[in-house]
Amino acid sequence: MNYRHAYHAGNHADVLKHAVLAHALVHMGRKDKAYCVVDAHAGLGVYDLDGVEAGKTLEWQGGVGRLIDGAGKMLALEDAAADVLLEPWRQAVAAVNGGGAIMRYPGSPEVAARLSRAQDRMVFNELHPADFETLSAQYAGDGRVRVTREEAGVAVKANLPPAERRGLVLIDPPYERVDDAERALATLKQGYKRFATGCFMLWYPVTGDGLSDRLVEAAAEAGMARMLVAEILVRPVTINGGLAGSGLIIVNPLWPLAEELPVLVPALAERLKAGDPAWRVEWLTGE
Ligand SMILES: C[S@@+](CC[C@H](N)C(=O)[O-])C[C@H]1O[C@@H](n2cnc3c(N)ncnc32)[C@H](O)[C@@H]1O
Repeated sequence: MNYRHAYHAGNHADVLKHAVLAHALVHMGRKDKAYCVVDAHAGLGVYDLDGVEAGKTLEWQGGVGRLIDGAGKMLALEDAAADVLLEPWRQAVAAVNGGGAIMRYPGSPEVAARLSRAQDRMVFNELHPADFETLSAQYAGDGRVRVTREEAGVAVKANLPPAERRGLVLIDPPYERVDDAERALATLKQGYKRFATGCFMLWYPVTGDGLSDRLVEAAAEAGMARMLVAEILVRPVTINGGLAGSGLIIVNPLWPLAEELPVLVPALAERLKAGDPAWRVEWLTGE
């Protein structure tokens, strides 16, 4: 396992993923009844944007960096309606920085921990031994959280359906192994089989290798209802051109997320663009 998310934290893909995740959790929290978040590839809770790893790639500058001014304060999106939808994510970012200049960035576990309530439960699963230890230490004092170290597919199977019968599952592999996409889809399918009413989010990268098209197509044909795709290309896709964009396959998006994403996603694409941007929000399957 070579992948460490610390090199990529806060990049344009993280901003899309975490902005949607935060907003989805706001909708989960509209009912008093508890829910459970299963983060199958959790990474770390919080990342240092001035740390060695982030400093080597500076990827965050093309992501969260586009939403920060020179003094480290968070900036608004031009589109006021989109800006309101970004607020839950922005608050999570501000909170890990104590309201001061942005030097730290919340990963998906921290977004979940910040947005969830006292009655909710979270399972953060991370396979990398060192990241698992760090993650365990970060959440040792949070009674709502259990940190596990399993293969993502095993963790999803073990935790679904949740006792609460309400939940969100994030599948966010590094795509470093040749079969990561296949495994991610298998994990989604198995999770859905056990918990068909749950909300699932599967993240994927868009590079020039055609993986994203194959994955989205296979997901659309996998027999799951109510599946949406939300994707941003910050620049045109080129062969061997690196990460041009990313997307989320979302099963059972909570109302009114599907109506909100066509407002939020283009505004984010415009802010994160590094060339001609493109975006899409489309239903892949119906009811
Ligand atoms: C893209 S990062 C996760 C980022 C995190 N979800 C976030 O949004 O902040 C993928 C993580 O999955 C872990 N990982 C890789 N293979 C895994 C597997 N088979 N099962 C569980 N975790 C795995 C990696 O160590 C890495 O921390």
